[in-house]
Amino acid sequence: MTRHHIALVPGDGIGTEVLPPAQQVLDTVGARHGIAFSYTSYDWSCERYLREGAMMPPDGLDQLREKDAILLGAVGYPGVPDHVSLWGLLIPIRRGFRQYVNLRPIRVFEGVDSPLRGAAAHEVEFVVVRENVEGEYSEIGGRLNRGTPEEIAVQEAVFTRAGVTRVLDFAFDLAARRGGVLTSATKSNGIVHTMPFWDELVAERATVHPQVSWDQEHIDALAAKFVLGPARFDVVVASNLFGDILSDLAAAVAGSIGIAPAANLNPERTHPSMFEPVHGSAPDIAGRGIANPLGAVWSAAMMLDHLGHPAAAKDVTDAIAAVLAKTDVRTPDLGGIATTAEFTDKLLELL
Ligand code: NAD
Ligand code: IPM
Ligand code: MN
Repeated sequence: MTRHHIALVPGDGIGTEVLPPAQQVLDTVGARHGIAFSYTSYDWSCERYLREGAMMPPDGLDQLREKDAILLGAVGYPGVPDHVSLWGLLIPIRRGFRQYVNLRPIRVFEGVDSPLRGAAAHEVEFVVVRENVEGEYSEIGGRLNRGTPEEIAVQEAVFTRAGVTRVLDFAFDLAARRGGVLTSATKSNGIVHTMPFWDELVAERATVHPQVSWDQEHIDALAAKFVLGPARFDVVVASNLFGDILSDLAAAVAGSIGIAPAANLNPERTHPSMFEPVHGSAPDIAGRGIANPLGAVWSAAMMLDHLGHPAAAKDVTDAIAAVLAKTDVRTPDLGGIATTAEFTDKLLELL
């Protein structure tokens, strides 16, 4: 029996509704594969912020440090400005634990009514590798002359040779293990300074990974191609902001952002990695018990894979595929009428 210590951070809104299903799935599949989980749950959230003035305690990262992995729901809720909640919890974990790769797979499951038409829809199966700790998400910048006609807001994007190189190498390696094709999201047509640098590094790293063929697409054109012909993509590597936008777009194209998972990886394993659905706290549906739990469940499957249990992970993704292909039980985002609990029960039945 292998035992893993998992930190649970449900967070805000539907984050608290989709994490229990993920935990149930882990326990069920773990029992079959000889894997036991011990969980430590943390109430770090906007609610905590309003009560105690901080999203997490000052030693928050230290409390997580010795865990094998972190499972997170979502962070952010009306009443606390997003820059406070995100810089107070989500971003410090990603940065503090050097989770510089955000891996976001996309798949159009059979039985999901994707906005894509035709047979090609079910050939869509690719992964976005998002740079996760630098780039456009920088702390450098600010606002001047607030509220005056001369008001200015400035944001500096920070791309480092080391930071870009390591995520590119991860993406090239992944492409080499998959279909051998990498697409780089860029905006190199002379407007922004950072992207020609990104492009140069892509070309440089390509020489180290000659088995991978690669191309690059301007982010605007790439967004259109995600809609018009997503089946041609295999691995797409993107900067922090570009990757953020592309991953919601891809998730929507695949039928619902409620299904999409994410793995915030520390590839060197010097720190715990964090697994969370791509979606946020969805205040518009929070508290109604109708959130789609599959994004969180699939994220838990990615965690199983990361922890060295690919067979257990596959059982989970097979159960996701089965519940979608073989039943009509599904949450409203997928056109159904099931609650989160009903959908989870059906999934557990098939697991
Ligand atoms: P969101 O992802 O929370 O919601 C966008 C839309 O998708 C909403 O209509 C919502 O109802 C729907 N949706 C999302 N997840 C769903 C699910 N599992 N099942 C069914 N429908 C689902 O994005 P938003 O509205 O831009 O952000 C809301 C809050 O969440 C903000 O505070 C934002 O900063 C935060 N957020 C956090 C994370 C994170 O913690 N990683 C990610 C994204 C957004
Ligand atoms: C995500 C989210 C976060 C991001 C926000 C909430 C800061 O959108 O995980 O995709 O942009 O990284
Ligand atoms: Mn996002």
